[in-house]
Amino acid sequence: MENLKDQRVLITGASSGIGRAMALSLAEKGSELFLLARRSDKLTELQSEIKTKYPEVKNHLIVGDINDSEIGEKIRTCTQEKIDILINNAGLAIGKERVEEAQFSDWEQMINTNITANFKLSHLVVPWMLKAKKGDIINLCSIAGHYTYQGGSVYCATKHAVNAFTRILREETCGQNLRVMQISPGMVDTEFSTVRFKGDKQLADAVYAHMTPLMAEDIARMMIFMLEQPRHVVIDELITMPTDQGSPTTVRRSK
Ligand SMILES: NC(=O)c1ccc[n+]([C@@H]2O[C@H](COP(=O)([O-])OP(=O)(O)OC[C@H]3O[C@@H](n4cnc5c(N)ncnc54)[C@H](OP(=O)(O)O)[C@@H]3O)[C@@H](O)[C@H]2O)c1
Repeated sequence: MENLKDQRVLITGASSGIGRAMALSLAEKGSELFLLARRSDKLTELQSEIKTKYPEVKNHLIVGDINDSEIGEKIRTCTQEKIDILINNAGLAIGKERVEEAQFSDWEQMINTNITANFKLSHLVVPWMLKAKKGDIINLCSIAGHYTYQGGSVYCATKHAVNAFTRILREETCGQNLRVMQISPGMVDTEFSTVRFKGDKQLADAVYAHMTPLMAEDIARMMIFMLEQPRHVVIDELITMPTDQGSPTTVRRSK
């Protein structure tokens, strides 16, 4: 079993949902955390929760937008180029309009965040990992990286891109003690739908109505399972959905 104690972990999108749950799970394991997101209040809240529950755990905040040109420098300075694990999690869907009705600004934000910024993080940390001859990367893909659904054109396209990138990075780095992995969830009850529907709580709540979605803690537990595998084992990808979901478009609701 891989021991996660004192492993230095960079988590993007740590201020809510899956990233936040992952930070708490890794803190329980004694990892040293580098927590990145834009909302400093949410990160500070998380930091004090970690301090209360796991006082011995070191954690550092990196407040910033992964699309900013200075983000690489901020990460470099804070981590001193030493990262054992990258959880490439920050990402979002915005809007669910048909192609001809969608707004370019929404497309650009998804493409910039889910593809460009996400890939640039691997470009930044892979050389550090290769030099250290050790590293793990978990990319947050989605079942939207495997299926398609109407209204999800660009979100699905970005996650298909993540899927391709993960596989290629894994091929390029194999045999060098780097484990490049991916987790692809279906519906997880986080801020994801509130962000997608631009703060419309009614639309967001309807996504999870009368069914039992996955919780962020379910994904964190699976990611810990992936990371704790012995060093010679890579879980290439873990695809997970709620029991009530069969595909992005098939959800069994109790009424
Ligand atoms: N929830 C689902 O059903 C689901 C299913 C499959 C895959 N996923 C994927 O899982 C990942 C996490 O999503 P989630 O469900 O946990 O949603 P969430 O609760 O909305 O969390 C998204 C996180 O990403 C951060 N983020 C977004 N844009 C950012 C940026 N430009 N710079 C820095 N941080 C940014 C947000 O922090 P700030 O706003 O504070 O910056 C937040 O911490 C995403 O990649 C998503 O595509 C989610």
